[in-house]
Amino acid sequence: MTGVGIDGIEIHTGKLRLDLPETFAPAMGDSPEKYTKGLGLHASSFPDTYEDIVTMGANAAHRLMRRKGLEPDDIGRIDVATESAFDHSKPVSTYIAGCLEDVFEGDFHHANKGERKFACVAGTQSIDDAYNWIRADRHRGRAALVITTDTALYARDDPGEATQGAGAVAMVIDEDPDLVELSTEQGYGSADETDFLKPQQQFPSVDGKRSVNVYLARMREALVDYQRVGGTIHAEDFRLGPFHTPFPGMVRKAALLAYRHITRDTDIEDELAAEIGRQPRSEAFDDDETYREALSEYTDALKETERYRSWYDRTIDPTLDISRRVGNWYTCSVHVARVSGLKSLAEDGEDAAGKRLLVGSYGSGAQAEIHVETIQENWREEIDALNIDEQLADRYELTFAEYEDVHDAHNHDEDAAVEEFTTPDSEFAFDGWGRMGERKYRFVE
Ligand code: HMG
Repeated sequence: MTGVGIDGIEIHTGKLRLDLPETFAPAMGDSPEKYTKGLGLHASSFPDTYEDIVTMGANAAHRLMRRKGLEPDDIGRIDVATESAFDHSKPVSTYIAGCLEDVFEGDFHHANKGERKFACVAGTQSIDDAYNWIRADRHRGRAALVITTDTALYARDDPGEATQGAGAVAMVIDEDPDLVELSTEQGYGSADETDFLKPQQQFPSVDGKRSVNVYLARMREALVDYQRVGGTIHAEDFRLGPFHTPFPGMVRKAALLAYRHITRDTDIEDELAAEIGRQPRSEAFDDDETYREALSEYTDALKETERYRSWYDRTIDPTLDISRRVGNWYTCSVHVARVSGLKSLAEDGEDAAGKRLLVGSYGSGAQAEIHVETIQENWREEIDALNIDEQLADRYELTFAEYEDVHDAHNHDEDAAVEEFTTPDSEFAFDGWGRMGERKYRFVE
């Protein structure tokens, strides 16, 4: 059976940059280290006034289709995953298809279009849908276009404001993929949670501290569930572990717990025993509280071991580089982490074909998903074609006052006339409102 996976990928960042330690922290009365050391974030990307989820998604998809030599007829399905949609009926994929039809010959009239919602995990779910559609042989030889796109803004003065971001990722899912092949095996951890939600409102209601614990709990369940079908996971089996990254500090916590879990009852636990003892087992304790204290002490000691640190530096840290520079892009975040990790391998000249990734997606509300990906022969060409470093370097640097204006410009409850900070160039831009309240777009040459 031919493999199915991600054949190509492109990233589009919002064109404005807010420096967190230098600009945001002083204005909020925070220490810069809360951002650089605690959350692990240096900057956020923001959309300019003519950018939104449609322009960012269409720009990423346009570049990807051009680079891969794809025409609309080659695409049988367009799924958009977002939690920033502005229309309860007409899916964002129709707006993006409309944009693309302005610049390509042909149309997407026979492509199945939809929109996926489950907080940040929806992008991975759209890849899943595409995978199943191809595997069921309903695709007529065509590929699927999966686009994740979000303006991840929080209300002013919400603690989440520190983790904002905006951008899009476009991916082609196809047979015999050039970048990574997806495993059939998956694990899920899913429960009805009230940690982050947007009931008929633009900005989320968030219980930040609780959301961190829910992320860790669901991710752990997904890992255990994955092992039921995929077999035992060994720490050294995976070259990279791209995880959903709302901020790098979150992944730092998740990686430590994952490492503790996958090294239990292994040679690694035995080797570390002389230095930090063995992992506490619940059966050895009279009550849960003492067991949890012992587990927490073991985990703190594990974090300081050379063995753990070198695993973290090799497997996790490379996946966080782009996130540090852009913030949380919700549905895009795990896909940005994958690119970040692969980009680092390419920069080091590593021969990575055949190596595997343990991919952990997560969406509040809440659901985690774990699957495995295998790096393909042509991966290097795909990663070398990205221009994300140039895009990041070209962003307009916001002052705090300008940040306040941009936030107002994107706030549906504010009527703020804010001039654009950059000039659109060979890209889609928002072009005002139509007679039925629809958003209109044009390609600016
Ligand atoms: P906060 O109250 O602003 O920050 O909330 P804090 O005081 O907890 O500080 C953050 C970290 O910086 C802490 O590290 C501090 O110790 C450290 P920790 O103890 O947790 O390891 N710190 C410092 N370190 C060094 N020097 C200093 C210093 N000061 C502080 N001077 C919070 C942080 C993440 C809760 C907030 O930003 C928030 O609510 N964010 C939004 C929710 C979120 O991102 N949750 C993550 C899990 S849920 C998820 O990932 C889903 C999501 O993507 C949505 C979706 O699925 O759709 C959000």
